[in-house]
Amino acid sequence: MQLNNKMMAPIIIVTLLLHAMHNIASSKFTIPEATIDDIQEAFKQNKLTSKELVEFYIERIRKLNPIYRAVIEVNPDAVYLAEKADQERKDKGPSWCYGLHGIPILLKDNIATKDKLNTTAGSYALLNSVVPRDAGVVKKLREAGAIILGKASLTEWSAFRSIILPSGWNARAKQPLNPYGATIDPCGSSTGSAISVATNMVTVSLGTETGGSILCPSCNNSVVGIKPTVGLTSRAGVIPISPRQDTVGPMCRTVADAVYVLDAIVGFDMYDAVATRKASKYIPKSGYLKHLKVDGLKGKRLGIMRAYPYFGFANDTKTLNKFEKHFDILRQKGAILIENLEILNFNQIVSMFDSKFIALPAEFKLALNAYLKNLVASPVRSLSDAIAFNKKYSDLEKINEYPQDIFLIAEKTNGIGKLEKEALMNLTKASKYGFEKLMNDNKLDALVTPYSTASNLLAIGGYPGISVPAGYDKNGGPYGICFGGLKGSEPTLIEIAYGFEQATNFRKPPTIKT
Ligand SMILES: *[C@@H]1O[C@H](CO)[C@@H](O)[C@H](O)[C@H]1NC(C)=O
Ligand SMILES: *[C@@H]1O[C@H](CO)[C@@H](O)[C@H](O)[C@H]1NC(C)=O
Ligand SMILES: *[C@@H]1O[C@H](CO)[C@@H](O)[C@H](O)[C@H]1NC(C)=O
Ligand SMILES: *[C@@H]1O[C@H](CO)[C@@H](O)[C@H](O)[C@H]1NC(C)=O
Repeated sequence: MQLNNKMMAPIIIVTLLLHAMHNIASSKFTIPEATIDDIQEAFKQNKLTSKELVEFYIERIRKLNPIYRAVIEVNPDAVYLAEKADQERKDKGPSWCYGLHGIPILLKDNIATKDKLNTTAGSYALLNSVVPRDAGVVKKLREAGAIILGKASLTEWSAFRSIILPSGWNARAKQPLNPYGATIDPCGSSTGSAISVATNMVTVSLGTETGGSILCPSCNNSVVGIKPTVGLTSRAGVIPISPRQDTVGPMCRTVADAVYVLDAIVGFDMYDAVATRKASKYIPKSGYLKHLKVDGLKGKRLGIMRAYPYFGFANDTKTLNKFEKHFDILRQKGAILIENLEILNFNQIVSMFDSKFIALPAEFKLALNAYLKNLVASPVRSLSDAIAFNKKYSDLEKINEYPQDIFLIAEKTNGIGKLEKEALMNLTKASKYGFEKLMNDNKLDALVTPYSTASNLLAIGGYPGISVPAGYDKNGGPYGICFGGLKGSEPTLIEIAYGFEQATNFRKPPTIKT
């Protein structure tokens, strides 16, 4: 059919109308829930400056943080840094409206910054300590143009002070609140990182994970968390637990935002040379962003195990029924679900996970002492100093409101001896004959697990995982779904996570209390 002018006219009018409507919609830019792409577009159109963004968040933190306690410190230089970013964009043009340039980020308070902010793991013992330099990931964030807005709350010492610390509690900021309900466990230890993005007190945040500390709070506060392969992101300048398991990763409202952050922080760092050099082979040459594929689930082989703990779903109809709709979505979007997977000698492999209780305290003492020794100045110089500090101030300021049982266990260790070596061997075997064999034998792209039940599995072998919001319980409690894979499989996991997120859009912002 020929289109003549008379026929075209209504089409042109409709097109113009749609165009106008789009402009009206985009002129209604609001900061809460804005993604990095939205913000960069607003920068480009001169509808927003970094300064306005930072001032908005500072005001929101002032208003909301007394309730949620997700932020420990705000950077006194944040507005200045924002003005600098604005000026840079003005000078260099719209091509600078990209990635993390001008974007505010909060860092878990175990990530060192060489600025006016303290780095304390939530403990008064490290207040006024002086770090030698920015953490490796912070250096990369600054190079990408991100604005360090402040430090996020955490379970004190990343929960390695005591097994009975409530999720998120630390002496400095006290108890954070899950924005989806006071009775819902906010989970830890990157609690403030999760809550601050969930409540729009910042655009994006960084958490750290040794065993569940990114995946679980992401899950419980309905945000996206990426736990990268160990070594993909530098741990230099991060108050440690175990160099074998520690990793730094993004916690954000969307998969795309998390991928922007990941892209900025991965790579070699001379202060974490061995691990970051080894893992840099996994970084795709053109970055991670191109793996944000709407049809990312197509053809992916996803494993589902009914074998609790660690590997997946408890073999109970309640959990399985709850995730039946998620499985359907994965299938509809072209994924191949491999169900009823089994592992040879499952019980023996699971029992080997217990060896972490021997390995971790010994690794912690060594790593923490090395971190404290490296500080330029510090009230405490060793784990034993930190224990003494907690004892000394136990009656003052209620610093010792909670015990320090893990500290005490760790202090009794004496390096990596025969027992510890055997424990480490067990963990390696559990990974090799458990997860790796399962993935390889079944040619899986990812293991799909509910909540953060797989976090120990992924932790002991340094494997990556991504948690994506997957819905809400009857009481409004959020839950997530986790995609875990072999080392370096981030590109594939991102495709899967993005495909799932775009197909479902489960995340709903919490109702904010004021
Ligand atoms: C760091 O801690 C010191 C000592 O309490 C305090 O004076 C300072 O304000 C803190 N820095 C920030 C940015 O809050
Ligand atoms: C799951 O439970 C069913 C019924 O309780 C049982 O028949 C089946 O063998 C179990 N499967 C696994 C993998 O444990
Ligand atoms: C290693 O694993 C074996 C078998 O599961 C167990 O009996 C042993 O106690 C473990 N050793 C350590 C040091 O954890
Ligand atoms: C949050 O995390 C904890 C683990 O600490 C879990 O037991 C709990 O069920 C999770 N979810 C909710 C909605 O509370």
